[in-house]
Amino acid sequence: MNIADLRKSYEKAELSESASHADPLQQFDQWLKEAISGELPEPNAMTLATVGSDLRPSTRVVLIKGYDERGVVWYTNFESRKGRELAGNPFAALQFHWVELERVVRIEGRVEKVSEAESDTYFHSRPLDSRIGAWASPQSQVIESRTVLVTNAAKYGAQFLLNPPRPPHWGGFRLVPDRWEFWQGRKSRLHDRLRYTQQADGGWLRERLAP
Ligand SMILES: Cc1cc2nc3c(=O)[nH]c(=O)nc-3n(C[C@H](O)[C@H](O)[C@H](O)COP(=O)(O)O)c2cc1C
Repeated sequence: MNIADLRKSYEKAELSESASHADPLQQFDQWLKEAISGELPEPNAMTLATVGSDLRPSTRVVLIKGYDERGVVWYTNFESRKGRELAGNPFAALQFHWVELERVVRIEGRVEKVSEAESDTYFHSRPLDSRIGAWASPQSQVIESRTVLVTNAAKYGAQFLLNPPRPPHWGGFRLVPDRWEFWQGRKSRLHDRLRYTQQADGGWLRERLAP
């Protein structure tokens, strides 16, 4: 098998100006709901790209935990690589790839922290082991061995029992979109791409991009 011979034709759907929403948030809401109701694997998983102070980009997968007219929210460790990169450069990009629907959504914009109250509410909605895990894992740091995590989890579990507080280094980020792109795979590589760019008055300019 030659990897270069692997290819497929995309024929499931189309994305037209007339059938898409004028507001990208509504278009995203529709597509995400279709990915969830279609029982796709991890429809809420998105790739997050950030750029470090050395100008090197990096990506990782995070889970979307909220979205509305303010932006798209995920939760993480503020001292992780992504957290440190966002502290230095708040611009980031998100990407969903819903393989079974032959769809991609790209979102770009500036990232801010969600409010402390919002982070607290979400933190306390998580299962106990996840809340302890937020204390136990110095995310993105080099650790001697897995034992470090197990020992930390036991230590914080004993310290906080059933009610760990939210760690100060853990909480939500919100990407405030100023650019969205919706990609629908089509036959013969003539895919549909609609890009929405925010205008000075807050409205959205919708343009078709060549695939
Ligand atoms: C499906 C999936 C969902 C994930 N969700 C999150 C998440 O919501 N928050 C998070 O911090 N890491 C999440 N991770 C782990 C990240 O991909 C990554 O390993 C971690 O955040 C460290 O990234 P960094 O060192 O670039 O900061 C997830 C991984 C996968 C595969």
